[in-house]
Amino acid sequence: MHNNVNELFENLWQQYLKVTPSAKNIHQFFGNGETIINDHIAIRTFNLPKVNLAVLAQHFIDVGYEEKGQYNFESKKLTAKHFEHSDPNQPKVFISELRVEECSQQLQDIVTELVEQVDASIPLAKNFLYNGAPWQVNKAQYELLIGESEYAGWTAAWGYRANHFTVHINKLAGYNDIETVNEALKSAGYTLNSAGGEIKGSQEVLLKQSSTMADKATCSLSDGDVDIASCFYEFAQRYNMPNGEEYTGFVAASADKIFESTNNS
Ligand code: NI
Repeated sequence: MHNNVNELFENLWQQYLKVTPSAKNIHQFFGNGETIINDHIAIRTFNLPKVNLAVLAQHFIDVGYEEKGQYNFESKKLTAKHFEHSDPNQPKVFISELRVEECSQQLQDIVTELVEQVDASIPLAKNFLYNGAPWQVNKAQYELLIGESEYAGWTAAWGYRANHFTVHINKLAGYNDIETVNEALKSAGYTLNSAGGEIKGSQEVLLKQSSTMADKATCSLSDGDVDIASCFYEFAQRYNMPNGEEYTGFVAASADKIFESTNNS
């Protein structure tokens, strides 16, 4: 039993709003009651077979998505792919996975223990992508994970959910470019991720991106609650390729810095 594509994104959106209160305000601020077209959403995981990128991707393939691009983030030890739907108004999907075997033995042991708690049927369930962490992680494990990899800590704590939604500026009424969008966000009091500059990318690479810093939200770990970085909102302006069609890929150097929107410090 699969989701239909709209149902899947509605579930992801409602789950995202629960830990990202600023997203509701930003959505209202830019949307002004109109529909906002999303450029993409992103989901994170570990590359262990039970929950890897391919397992997550299948949920999107089942509702009409196709694999389009592959990316490597050497220093963060991540592999990612992006997927597109035949309807260009459906968001692209960017899924990344941590290459656990490249991490310390301690990180490998913790992540392996978490994934071993997950019954093999769970990642195949219809609601898996918007049901949070399918394992119990304690505070000590979480601290060890973020000490080595903010990505690993975030993924262990928050599990399966949209890490961000992304406004497609080209399809946003009232705004022509990312510079204007960023100024409006800052005037309204939001903090932008400035790692590598507020605008990642350029017209030359056919994609400019910016993002807010993640909200802080209360996450229930197995031995108590922690207030940690949750999710953020991203903004993307795309340019046309020489053939006149809009570029639909991603730029690894830019995405590398966008990942840091969920850093806790
Ligand atoms: Ni993104």
